[in-house]
Amino acid sequence: TAPALVDTHGRVHRDLRISLTDRCSLRCTYCMPEQGNEWLARTSILSLDEVERVAAVAAAAGVTTFRLTGGEPLLRSDIVEVVARLARLRGPDGPVQVAMTTNGIRLPEFLPALVDAGLHRLNISIDTLDRERFRSLTRRDRLDDVLAGIAAAAASPLTPLKLNAVAMRDVNEDELVDLVAFAVGHGAQMRFIEQMPLDAGHTWSRERMVTREEILERLSSRWRLAPVPGRGGAPAETWTLDGGPHTVGVIASVTAPFCGACDRLRLTADGQLRNCLFSTTEFDLLPILRAGHEEHVEREALDAMLRGCIIRKLPGHAIDDPSFLQPARGMNAIGG
Ligand code: GTP
Ligand code: 5AD
Ligand code: SF4
Repeated sequence: TAPALVDTHGRVHRDLRISLTDRCSLRCTYCMPEQGNEWLARTSILSLDEVERVAAVAAAAGVTTFRLTGGEPLLRSDIVEVVARLARLRGPDGPVQVAMTTNGIRLPEFLPALVDAGLHRLNISIDTLDRERFRSLTRRDRLDDVLAGIAAAAASPLTPLKLNAVAMRDVNEDELVDLVAFAVGHGAQMRFIEQMPLDAGHTWSRERMVTREEILERLSSRWRLAPVPGRGGAPAETWTLDGGPHTVGVIASVTAPFCGACDRLRLTADGQLRNCLFSTTEFDLLPILRAGHEEHVEREALDAMLRGCIIRKLPGHAIDDPSFLQPARGMNAIGG
């Protein structure tokens, strides 16, 4: 087997986030413009086979978790087959895990098949429980569909279920306690995310951002929070609520970045490897995948690209740097 994917800062990469499409049924203001983006060309979107071939090489190099993202991954017509193929992969340490981050809308329809296909875990985005707010944030009137998706996930064998909310000033900052109570009611973990400068409108400002500190202050008005140790490479810090068993998480990418422990790589729907959410360089796998190579030649070339990508990974993002530049791709095309 191939050696592990270690970068120049000693970080071992075990998590590959695969964006399966840049399309989405919602238009969250922090992610996409109202009219959507110019979509990726259909011919450049990786096929089921191509995704599987990249994932197989990553698994051989020690990647143990694949997270399927979008846009909205359930808009891929072959999503169940993608899960099934990836879930069959094995790495040096045994079988891999396949997880998905979704807006939840098509879950009631797909869940049984996804479970049968071998999906391990689900994270669902829900930023507000208020119908009007949901409509103005996502520009679509689909809160009921998302709630149905969460209910279906809560009733499924996939655990632990996590719910994500980007904490936003004047949007949901007053709803954090309600969201946690909602998650607890579904046996799920609520996680609040500091908004990152990846929005289409470039309206992000550090001054207006709802910070980790403010999130914790708001939650502390209702629960006694105690930190859960043993975070590893996870982006979320977690706390128990009133001694447990329920927990809440905060992903503080801006005020408490976890870049030092980052174990993630990203693959976009059009076959570009990225070593960071914020990277401005991408590594194009399409020419390798479409050259008609023999299998072992392709595997070696893909493995070399993975290593070339990792070796150029910077120690961390530079959101605080005055020269910070937002990546050219929108969040929907990076995969979150
Ligand atoms: P778990 O494996 O359940 O911990 O999933 P996750 O939190 O990594 O995935 P999810 O797709 O639910 O992402 C939640 C939030 O974390 C999103 O806002 C992501 O953009 C953010 N996130 C995930 N990975 C990274 C990362 O490598 N860097 C940064 N800055 N943010 C990340
Ligand atoms: N900042 C932080 N999180 C974001 N997400 C999308 N855009 C942003 C942003 N600008 C989150 C979504 C979803 C996850 C994949 O990424 O809410 O939960
Ligand atoms: Fe779609 Fe996710 Fe972007 Fe919302 S955050 S518009 S659900 S891709």
